[in-house]
Amino acid sequence: MEETRKTKGLVPAKTQDLVERRKRAMEGGGPEKVAQQRQRGKMLARERIAFLLDEDSFEEMGLLIESKCDDFGMAKERRPGDGVVAGFGRIHGRGVCVYAQDFTVIGGTLGLAHARKICSVLELAAKAKVPVVALCDSGGARIQEGVESLGGYADIFYRNVQLSGFVPQITAILGPCAGGAVYSPALTDFVFMVEGLSRMFVTGPDVIRASTGESTDLESLGGAKVHASKSGACHFLAGSEHDCFRQIRELLEYLPQSCEEKPKPVMPSDDPFRLSPQLGTMAEMDPKKPYNIHDVILEIADNHQFLETHRDFALNLVTGFIRLNGESVGVVANNPLYFSGALDVDASEKGARFVRFCDAFNIPLLTLVDVPGYWPGVEQEHGGLIRRGAKLLYAYCQSTVPKVAVVLRKAYGGAYDVMSSKHVKGDVNLAWPCAEIAVMGPQAAVEVLHKDALAAAPDSQALRDKLIAEYVAKFASPYEAARRGYIDEVIDAKETRPKIIRAFQFLRGKSVEPVKKKHGNIPL
Ligand code: HXC
Repeated sequence: MEETRKTKGLVPAKTQDLVERRKRAMEGGGPEKVAQQRQRGKMLARERIAFLLDEDSFEEMGLLIESKCDDFGMAKERRPGDGVVAGFGRIHGRGVCVYAQDFTVIGGTLGLAHARKICSVLELAAKAKVPVVALCDSGGARIQEGVESLGGYADIFYRNVQLSGFVPQITAILGPCAGGAVYSPALTDFVFMVEGLSRMFVTGPDVIRASTGESTDLESLGGAKVHASKSGACHFLAGSEHDCFRQIRELLEYLPQSCEEKPKPVMPSDDPFRLSPQLGTMAEMDPKKPYNIHDVILEIADNHQFLETHRDFALNLVTGFIRLNGESVGVVANNPLYFSGALDVDASEKGARFVRFCDAFNIPLLTLVDVPGYWPGVEQEHGGLIRRGAKLLYAYCQSTVPKVAVVLRKAYGGAYDVMSSKHVKGDVNLAWPCAEIAVMGPQAAVEVLHKDALAAAPDSQALRDKLIAEYVAKFASPYEAARRGYIDEVIDAKETRPKIIRAFQFLRGKSVEPVKKKHGNIPL
């Protein structure tokens, strides 16, 4: 009886102690810092996680972890949780690891305990074989913790690299992200930024002014739009934090949990045999007329839905995810609306990274080809067109997922080889009847082949027209390539969707044994 009374008395006291410890930890940096965060128009770390994950699915870990640093008055700044909220939960019912930096605690800066917490979540993702989502909002390395902060970052970088290609890694920048801190996002697969809220830079405006004399501000240096359109460091641009979390959830639906799985199909709700009169009309178009490749992608995709990656970067090449009869498929497509769809340095890198992501995570690749070649120019050549252009070639050659390509119109020069051609082990290669597969376009070819004759001709234009007509008759069609077996079938453009779906269905069981070696040496 006495024993029972004692136990009864003890349990509430201990539980009460736990409740209070949890409460303190949940306060983050305290009411004043919380109010400042709201004034900055930013959500709190736990609110962000709650919006991202399925309702009530978050299990927090390391809530009571604390920094041991006492230097520079840190003893009184110390907060349980050390400025990062971490754990696991669910998105669309599937497991995911997540961490969110808490800017209210010393500006979300990273010290040793903070870093260890992130590392343990990354290790958990590796063990559980689930994706990781990082929500970054931080002043970078915590100055007071010196080299331990730098080491903490390196520990995270190392784990990001070990996880690369094993589980999908996604980062959302939801505030500042400065210094070496930007390299963890850069090592992950997809980076999201919010307009007006997110900033990423290695050195800030003050350091730049002091070292180079250039004058800039935070937004034009490292704002969301700049990284989405110029540097390419951002793959998805969001209008608000809520929009950002919605987009992350949408992206994850197309991806598998790890490289050991295939993406989860959804119940198809579109007719796999749907014909497209619109594509039939496009195949009769003027070969010089620009058109928007998005129209073609939407016609082919289930329910006309397309999740585009890198939407504002390298507009001449479009990449993203669609579903075909419910299966997730990665799309790479030249867009004739920009630079006539030619490949340049940015497009090559954009495409290469996307192809490698899809290949790492067993996502089949659909390539839509309308490319007049690599973009000519001194700036491109000196900017690394050879080295950087080779990345896309390398990525296609190395990929072993099912690959279906359709030549819509032009497939000229080296770009023909690169864009999932039969020669780089495309599995099923189709072409529309209006396709032109040749070393170069008729005009340029005639100038090269008949330079002397044209110079000597009394009516050089008449001769030029005649020679161009001959060239077009011979090469500006898919039939020379089809005769050689480089195109498997010339199709009626109306049938593009059913043809592609049949090919991917057939290729579902494809497996290729990789050559045994340590790793290849992609031209970085
Ligand atoms: C310690 C920091 C800090 C830091 C910010 N704080 N950055 N504390 N180390 N790196 C603190 C501030 O003192 C402040 O504390 C609180 O966080 C909020 O910061 P504010 O400046 O008030 O906020 P805001 O005006 O929104 O500006 C945010 C900011 C700015 C743009 C991030 O603080 C800033 O420029 N910080 C320095 C960023 C930077 O250079 N980081 C790189 C570090 S080197 P109080 O107590 O006043 O609330 C690095 C290398 C890593 O990261 C290398 C890895 C390889």
